[in-house]
Amino acid sequence: MIIRPMLRYMRELLSEVLEPGDLAIDATVGKGSDTLFLAERVGESGQVIGFDVQETALEKARTRLVEAGMPGRVDLKLESHAAMRDAVPRDWHGRVKAVTFNLGYLPGGDPEVVTVAESTLTALDAALELLATGGVMTVMLYSGHEQGKAETRAVLDWAESVELERAHVLLYRFLNQQNDPPVLIALEKRG
Ligand SMILES: C[S@@+](CC[C@H](N)C(=O)[O-])C[C@H]1O[C@@H](n2cnc3c(N)ncnc32)[C@H](O)[C@@H]1O
Repeated sequence: MIIRPMLRYMRELLSEVLEPGDLAIDATVGKGSDTLFLAERVGESGQVIGFDVQETALEKARTRLVEAGMPGRVDLKLESHAAMRDAVPRDWHGRVKAVTFNLGYLPGGDPEVVTVAESTLTALDAALELLATGGVMTVMLYSGHEQGKAETRAVLDWAESVELERAHVLLYRFLNQQNDPPVLIALEKRG
């Protein structure tokens, strides 16, 4: 398929910008597949900070990172991404090359533990500040569940309101898929 499936396109965008030695943030670690991907891209000399509010999810992510031989380059925080601005070291501000959000709930996990619009918007504002010029943020949104509808609307409104001088903002969406397919927002920081 020439048109990229959603997850693959998201990772291509992140790969495009990430180099060994870079700083990256996973705002929704879950079982850690995106965290692992970021850790691979930043290499031994890079660093990743990950956020999740579920200890059970972080344990799984930690195990995967250990198995992959790269636990040292990832700092997993049992904290809401809404705390991102203060939780990320001061000297990272304006130097982060990539931030990824994969919103909603953990597949196979507790569907009650779900991202919600208010804290997501706080985190998005912080992430935009933390990004370096030329850095990329991706946000995967799911509207198939109740919280997800309101969250998707709020995040799309937020994304549309980002001033062009601050970032290029892209919406990537399949128009003819059934049952509320995910949508991807990608943002490239300008200034
Ligand atoms: C769709 S899953 C993420 C999947 C993950 N990227 C992976 O590779 O497995 C969404 C995650 O967001 C987490 N979450 C919910 N509210 C959060 C918050 N306020 N801050 C950070 N993570 C949150 C959930 O616990 C869940 O693990």
